[in-house]
Order: sequence, then structure tokens, then C-alpha cells
Amino acid sequence: MPWRRTITCGELRETHVGSTVTLNGWVNTYRSQQHQVFIDLRDRYGMTQVVFESENDADLFAAAGMLRSEWVVSITGTVRERLPGKANPKLTTGKVELLATKMTILNRCPATPFEVFSVPQENATLADPPQLANEDLRLQYRFLDLRRPTLHRTLALRHRLNKVIRDFLDHERFLELETPLLGKSSPEGARDYLVPSRVFPGSFFALPQSPQLYKQLLMVSGYDRYFQIARCLRDEDLRADRQPEFTQLDVEMSFVQMDDVLTLVERLVVDIFQKCIGVTLTTPFPRLKYADAMMRYGSDKPDLRFAMEIGEMSDLFAATELGPFKDAMAAGGRVRGINAVGGAPQYTRKQLDEANEAFKAAGGRLLAWVKIEADGKVGSSIAKFLTPETQAKLLERFAAKPGDLILIGAADSEDATASAMGGLRVLLAQKLGLIDPTMKEYKVAWVIDFPSFIWDAEEGRWAANHHPFTAPRDEDVPLLATDPGKVLAKAYDLVINGYEAAGGSIRIHDRSVQSALFGVLGMTQDQARERFGFLLDALSYGAPPHGGIAFGLDRFTMLLAGTTNIRDVIAFPKNQRARDLMTGAPALVDDKQLKELGINLNET
Ligand code: AMO
Repeated sequence: MPWRRTITCGELRETHVGSTVTLNGWVNTYRSQQHQVFIDLRDRYGMTQVVFESENDADLFAAAGMLRSEWVVSITGTVRERLPGKANPKLTTGKVELLATKMTILNRCPATPFEVFSVPQENATLADPPQLANEDLRLQYRFLDLRRPTLHRTLALRHRLNKVIRDFLDHERFLELETPLLGKSSPEGARDYLVPSRVFPGSFFALPQSPQLYKQLLMVSGYDRYFQIARCLRDEDLRADRQPEFTQLDVEMSFVQMDDVLTLVERLVVDIFQKCIGVTLTTPFPRLKYADAMMRYGSDKPDLRFAMEIGEMSDLFAATELGPFKDAMAAGGRVRGINAVGGAPQYTRKQLDEANEAFKAAGGRLLAWVKIEADGKVGSSIAKFLTPETQAKLLERFAAKPGDLILIGAADSEDATASAMGGLRVLLAQKLGLIDPTMKEYKVAWVIDFPSFIWDAEEGRWAANHHPFTAPRDEDVPLLATDPGKVLAKAYDLVINGYEAAGGSIRIHDRSVQSALFGVLGMTQDQARERFGFLLDALSYGAPPHGGIAFGLDRFTMLLAGTTNIRDVIAFPKNQRARDLMTGAPALVDDKQLKELGINLNET
């Protein structure tokens, strides 16, 4: 094959000067001059400048003049040093160029619906080129969008992540085992994607929301260290960090307690950061109790890259006449505050009004402000309701200095206050520039001691906060019968920079605890049997103590790659409406197919 490449587009250096090589790749850009045509030839490995000169070969020069972006070509030529001053420091191949002596056009390409990319690749960030085409258009032509070197880099990072994980866990004697895609619904709590059965009309498989039940069964069967890089499917509302189809690193271990799981995961996470992006993390990761996280950061996945903690202020306003605060506390809510250190000059009155509206939209009653001007004068939106004494205590509690801006908010329940303040905390940090825009700083922590149950006000009953096999803390087992709201679980989340990167728990392996827990959920033994019969059976046949965790691998890759868009780390993602714009899925199917499945869409 005369056109076969002898080297890639990312490899040529000064040491190659004088040698004859053949490159294969895509025309990234082309520039025609009177006697020369320059193209940047691109492949997965990089980009090389190729020159065609009329004085060298007039026919070849003419042919090069016809080249267009994204054509696929093979070019043979001689490597030469670029002229003084013409080196391109942005390219690793930037000191040399290829003087073309032969070209084979391997394929042509019509004008692309958007520019594939225009910046020198080694420098590109995920947002490059800055004039990135509309995302829906890019998803429709994902095969073109995927040519962007930045996406090549992220997907290579994802490959590396998988490899590091597999190597680490193999070394720790874990077995990588597969579990079915067609199964019964697992209790993860989102809506299932269902697959109709042709053989049993009217019956459906559920695609797994996670391998949860199967991994517990594997523990019962003695495969005491299991992992799987598993595809999970959840029909839920999408956000920037959620996809309907995503990937977990799923792990389960037997004969372990919580500390064993956390320690192993810490070692794995350290290895990943080191080997994937060269970042050294220190262990043990701090452990935050859920209640503290909600109080201090207003979130169960706090961003710890900045401090700015939330403080309880209800006591200062216990006797206030300020309607929204009074009403919120009467309804069971709280008044809490935050000091946006140095924030006073950054916020105009209008912006503070807008912040109040945003706070209310997030479930709060009122967001009041207290500004400490540069000269020490204090101004406030609730000046009338602030006694000098309250004001002094407030400033003292926040160690407020001139230039600070204290924001005080209230909502109708403790949870609502916490989350409205938590949302505000993140907005303040963004506005005040407290978050490193290069996303190179990592703050990793565990959140533990989650409540086992949450009160479902609509249904008027307790619901499992995780899944119903999550073990309560030993000391809380008696509370199952008396005060379920106080039961804390042996559950843990790994939080990185404000993202829930992983979550897991120690499972119940004791039948009486399991029965008591179903009791709290209002499930009879029969109902539990109907839903989880096979797991309950298995657990009764000699289940070892076990527990595990699952990482969201897409989110993990996002964090490593420094992006906030989950679609940047998935080769073929769905859009925000769970559609694949490239293939058009989901799509209508033939009546014949539906008939075979016993589905009649016309029936009412
Ligand atoms: P959980 O439901 O917390 O736990 O999921 C584990 C991790 O998976 C990621 N994740 C998602 N990532 C992208 N898109 C989604 N829609 C999505 N949903 C979840 C998150 C999350 O931390 N079986 C249990 C784990 C266990 O108990 O061992 C489970 O699935 O990063």
C-alpha cells in the first residue's frame, strides 16, 4: 500500500529532519499562497504542517490547491526545519514541516455543517474553539464533533481511568464479573427503562438502574470482592451531570465494615488522581456528618474548595417582628446567615434584590442583607428590624470587617433553609471568584451518617433514603421501632468539588433488622417478598456481612477532565431531553414489531 503511514501526525521533531515519511490524516486547515500551499494535517496524535511548493512539483502543487477541510489524505514528503521565526510553539511538531513529494487523496468530504476545530490542538480546552457550534447540531453530527482533539483527549483519559481501576482492583484480588442487562426492576428509586418480552406478552424486563441486587447475590455466593464497570439506565430528569445511560464502577466486598470500604476506596482514588492527572491527594479524606454538611454548607455534596460557612442565626431573630423570618420559624424553619467576605462592593442594591428573588424561587421566604461599608458604616435591607444589640451580635458572629456582606435567609423548614442557603453559597462563590476556573484544585471528602429514612409528606409515610438494604448504625437499631426519623445509616458518599462522585453503604445481613426496616417502610413481609423475594431468599441462605459502593464514572471523568458538562466525557451521549440526535433514537417502530410484542398503541 503506497499510502500507508510510516509515522503519525504528532511525532515529527527536529531529529527527523532529512528523513522521508508518510503521514495519513484529515486536512485541518489549508492556506494557499502564490507558490505554496500549506495544510495542517491532523490525526489522533497531533498535527503537522505540510507544504506543497510549485517550484518543487507543479502538478502536486495544483492538486494541493484543491484540498478542502476534512478531506482524508496520505502525504509523503521530506521533513525539514521551519524557517527561522516560523516555528509554532503551540504545536509539539511546530519546529518542523513536511515538504510534500507525493499525495494520495483517500477520501473527500463535503462542507461540514460546522467548523470541526480551528485552534492548535495541544492548547485547546474543552470549550475550544470559542465559537463552538450549537450543541444540538454537534450532537447530530457527533462523528464530526468527536474529531475535536479535546474530545479525543477526554476519551483517552476515560480509557486510562478504566485501566487504572482495573489494574488496581485486580491487584487487590477483585473479580470483574458481569451481571444481566435484562432483569427485574432494582430499587434505586428512579423510573425504569422497560423492555417488552415477545415470549411473554404483557411482561417486561427492566434495564438495570444499577447492579445492586446482583452484586449482593454474588456476595452470598462467596465472590467476596467483586467489581464491574457497569452501564446503568435511569429514566429521570436530566441535569448537566446526569445522563439516562451512564456508567458506574460498581464494587462490593464481604466480611467488611464501613472503614474497610472507605480505606480501600481512598487508596483507589489516590491512585486514580496520581496516574490519570498527576495530582497527589492526601488521605484519610475528611469525614463530614450529613447533618453538619447540611448545616454548614447547605448541601450533602458540599463544595469544599472555599470556606464561606453558613451559620445558625435563629436565636438572634427569636423575638423578631420581621414577618417572613417570624413566619418561617413558626412553620418549623430556620434563619441562617453567610458572610460573603469582601462582597459588599461587588453587589449593587439591584443585584441584592435579584439575589432575594432567586432565593425565594429556591424555596426561601426572604434573603436580607447587611453591608459593612469601607468606612465601617452598616446598612441593611432590614435595618428597621435590627436592634443595635442584634446587629452587634451578628457582626461578631461572622467576624465581619469593612467590605463584608452578610446575607441572612429563612425558609419554612430546616431542610428548605439549608438547601436555599446552600444554593446561595455556591452562587456567592462564583460571583466572588472563589472557584478556581481551571478546575485544577480538588477537595475530596466523605459525607457519612445519612438518615436512613426520609418522610414522604405526599404519601404520609417513611421512605428509604438509599435503598431498603442499607444497614442502620448498630446503635440506632432500637430506634427503628420507636423513632425512625432519628435512625442514621451506614451509608457514605464520596464528594469531590461539589459533586457526588460515589455512594454506597454497608448492607443489612440480619433478617430481624431487615424485617424491622420493611416495617418502617410500611411493607408487609408478603409485599417485601413480592418485590425482592429472590434477594431475601438469598440473604436467608447464609449471607456474609457485606457492603460496597458505586462511582459515577462519567462524573469522575468530568472532574478529572475539568469539565462541567457530562456530555463532554461520553462518546455518544443523549441530549438534555434524553434523545440521541445522531441516530434519532428513541424512534417509532413498525406495527409488525409492536404486534409481535403484543403492544397495540391504538388501544385506549
Ligand atoms: P447511586 O444511586 O448513589 O448508588 O449511584 C452511584 C453513583 O452513580 C452516579 N450517578 C449518575 N451519573 C450520571 N448520570 C446519572 N443519571 C447518575 N445517577 C447516579 C453518581 C452516584 O454517586 N447501587 C448503589 C450503590 C451502592 O449502594 O453500592 C447506587 O447505584 O456519581
